[in-house]
Amino acid sequence: MPNPKSKIQNPKSNARFLRACCGEPVDRTPVWLMRQAGRFLPEYRALREKYSMMEMLHAPELAVEATLQPVRRFEIDAAIIFADILPILTGMGLELNFVKGAGPVLANPIRRAADVTALRLVPPDESLPFVLEAIRLARRELEGKVPLIGFSGAPFTLASYAIEGGGSKNYTRVKALMYGEPDTWHLLMEKLTTAVGDYLAAQVEAGAQTLQLFDSWAGALSPSDYARFVLPYNRRVTERVRSTGVPFIYFSTGTSAMLPLTAQVGSDVVGVDWRIPLDEAWDAIGTDRGIQGNLDPALLATAPPSVVVAEARRILREAGGRPGHIFNLGHGVLPQTPLENVQALVEAMDLDC
Ligand code: CP3
Repeated sequence: MPNPKSKIQNPKSNARFLRACCGEPVDRTPVWLMRQAGRFLPEYRALREKYSMMEMLHAPELAVEATLQPVRRFEIDAAIIFADILPILTGMGLELNFVKGAGPVLANPIRRAADVTALRLVPPDESLPFVLEAIRLARRELEGKVPLIGFSGAPFTLASYAIEGGGSKNYTRVKALMYGEPDTWHLLMEKLTTAVGDYLAAQVEAGAQTLQLFDSWAGALSPSDYARFVLPYNRRVTERVRSTGVPFIYFSTGTSAMLPLTAQVGSDVVGVDWRIPLDEAWDAIGTDRGIQGNLDPALLATAPPSVVVAEARRILREAGGRPGHIFNLGHGVLPQTPLENVQALVEAMDLDC
């Protein structure tokens, strides 16, 4: 009997990952790696010798190639579209560059109310058509073998980049705006929430089968500031995504102390980092919800394969075979990660813990 509540769109596809997102039983724990379409793969680095990051992002065929590379090499259970969280800001009027050694830099960051008022809301098929085309092409190339994940940065993490202009240690400009000009803050978050919701919905229309919201910088906030300045907007993104019908993963880092709050975002699956045992995290979130995580990416990058396997087994034991566990790292895979460690991790999913 088909489960009427199931969100699986193509039951013939490899459905392990999608079933786990919906809390349904699986034959083994599904696994994929955040930032798997990237620099730990020699074939990705070879592409980047020929093309800049911007060229890669804007050419759907190149983005599809980067998307498929990890899926060809490892028996992982999902592909994630090669894209980045920041180009959505370009569509709104900010100028983005990837600077070698320094990461992404925004040339005209938001500093005053007028900058927020000037932000444009352009339909995603005009501002980010190359991502949508890459999704369409990737779905064709994947032939239903593994599901395709679409994603966006969360409003807070995008706001942080837009205000700081790049990476930040203490988020002092972000916090100055939040506390000093709350109306401007809320207007910025309103606009970003609309842009993110439109973008995610367009990705599903193009073929994304699951969506993940990256709130990588949420751990910079106190729980009460998260509840007041950020949570309502994430909840609105969830409401918007809910209408698309695909599973939704909310990921943040440094938020172990406020998991009951991140659970209130209302996603189907909550991503957790390695700073908390998985079973404790699951208790805090509520076992009616899926959980994604939570191996330390630095361990995967540095430990011998036997230690990787032992850690993977520990995490699987903590999950205790409950439905709704998706194995992943607690943050993105690091560029120096040995391929054999990833292979050992993926094979460890078959071990009976
Ligand atoms: O997960 C995947 O493999 C899909 C592709 C993906 C990229 N960026 C490609 C990328 C995803 C999901 C992202 C998300 C992203 N981008 C986040 C959230 C996840 C996280 O790690 O916290 C953030 C904060 C960004 C912003 C960003 N983009 C930074 C800080 C950098 C430079 C530093 C770094 O980690 O590389 C990028 C560049 C970027 N985005 C690269 C890739 C593969 C490296 C570019 C290169 O090849 O030099």
